[in-house]
Amino acid sequence: MWGGRFASGPSAIMREINASIPFDKALWRQDIAASKAHVDMLAAQGIVSHEDAALIAGGLDSVAAEYETNGVPENWDLEDIHMTTESRLAELIGAAAGRLHTARSRNDQVATDFRLWVRDAMDQAELGLKQLQVALVGRAGEHADSIMPGFTHLQTAQPVTLGHHLMAYYEMAGRDRSRFAAARVRMNRSPLGAAALAGTGFPIDRFRTAEALGFDGPTDNSLDSVSDRDFALDYLMAAAQASLHLSRLAEEFIIWASQPFGFVTLPDSLSTGSSIMPQKKNPDAAELVRGHSGRIVGCLTSLMITMKGLPLAYSKDMQDDKPPVFEAASLLALSIAAMTGMVAEAKFRTERMRAAAELGYATATDLADWLVRQANIPFREAHHITGSAVKLAESRGIALDQLPLDDLKAIDARIDDRVYAALSVDASVASRASHGGTAPNEVRKRVAEARVALGLEDVT
Ligand code: ARG
Repeated sequence: MWGGRFASGPSAIMREINASIPFDKALWRQDIAASKAHVDMLAAQGIVSHEDAALIAGGLDSVAAEYETNGVPENWDLEDIHMTTESRLAELIGAAAGRLHTARSRNDQVATDFRLWVRDAMDQAELGLKQLQVALVGRAGEHADSIMPGFTHLQTAQPVTLGHHLMAYYEMAGRDRSRFAAARVRMNRSPLGAAALAGTGFPIDRFRTAEALGFDGPTDNSLDSVSDRDFALDYLMAAAQASLHLSRLAEEFIIWASQPFGFVTLPDSLSTGSSIMPQKKNPDAAELVRGHSGRIVGCLTSLMITMKGLPLAYSKDMQDDKPPVFEAASLLALSIAAMTGMVAEAKFRTERMRAAAELGYATATDLADWLVRQANIPFREAHHITGSAVKLAESRGIALDQLPLDDLKAIDARIDDRVYAALSVDASVASRASHGGTAPNEVRKRVAEARVALGLEDVT
């Protein structure tokens, strides 16, 4: 394709280091679509004849059909998907194929193809996260009243409901969706027509190609157009953030599925056994989601470091932009699917959760709050009195509400038998009805709003 100025061909090493076809063949659909938009514009602008344009467009359809059935051939001599396609086009239609590359360069071509690919990946991630939200909301609705211990420092803190806990992940997934959606708006401009770096002397119509490819318009600086990979970084940043959330959710399931916790029975379909220990059922899918998030963060780091030192405009380093994005996209899709399945199919052992909440002195704050409200004791003093009650209960191995009234009165005479109503885990969660609190009614309210936002309810 560029042999004119060279006396000898590339060495074996050069061919190998230069070839991006092994991975950028994933862009073939985008490459064909962008070429078709380009040649249609060239004809409309009188830059190539309508006959040649029709020949080229038909030829591109034939190449696409071949790729669809046989895959994309990998010939290192043809370097990348752009030259692979153009060379096959020439074999199929002859000399007219040589007119396709008028007023364009592989620099704006790859920038366009890759943007189109990343745009789809953003849409897919957004959709996948929405499915995860649907699963979370479904289970949260089921478990708006199911009591479990809420933790800080992984120590029992206060009782919460499982529905509330699951809805926390609904909120995270919502922020992740909005990150992908915002990145999509920012990136949706067409670099096609920036040519190698400076624009072109041909009377092209960049608005026409932008519209044909579903962009909101053309980019406004040709140098920036061919050197910008912010869209890929934006994608990776959103993917990394989403994967951190997925990893945290996976970690919850791993902890909950452990025998000492026993809060959840994982679906068989998303667990594995051990080759030596017959009793084992391992949370491998969750562990791999946790592991994959590390790799996705690595993909982000990889591209940031590729880009950080590059002067304008295109440099070949940028060819290395694709593998981390492709890798992150497939890891993210798998992770979202695995966690969606896990949320939808896990069997929550609500009796174990409730028992753990009752055992862990989770209502100690409720006792302190009761002393403040009923006996007008300053909170710091109430905290101290409650601490003594917990110490006593702990020394006897019983729950707070199993302490006889006389013992409570011996700690502080202002305590009376109304306190028992405040010490149950049910009373505790029901009382936390502040906006966004864990009270079952609050959880149900948020679930109802979420169902409307997800389009699961008819809005009248
Ligand atoms: N395969 C190249 C890439 O992915 C296409 C652009 C090549 N441009 C160039 N000036 N050599 O970056």
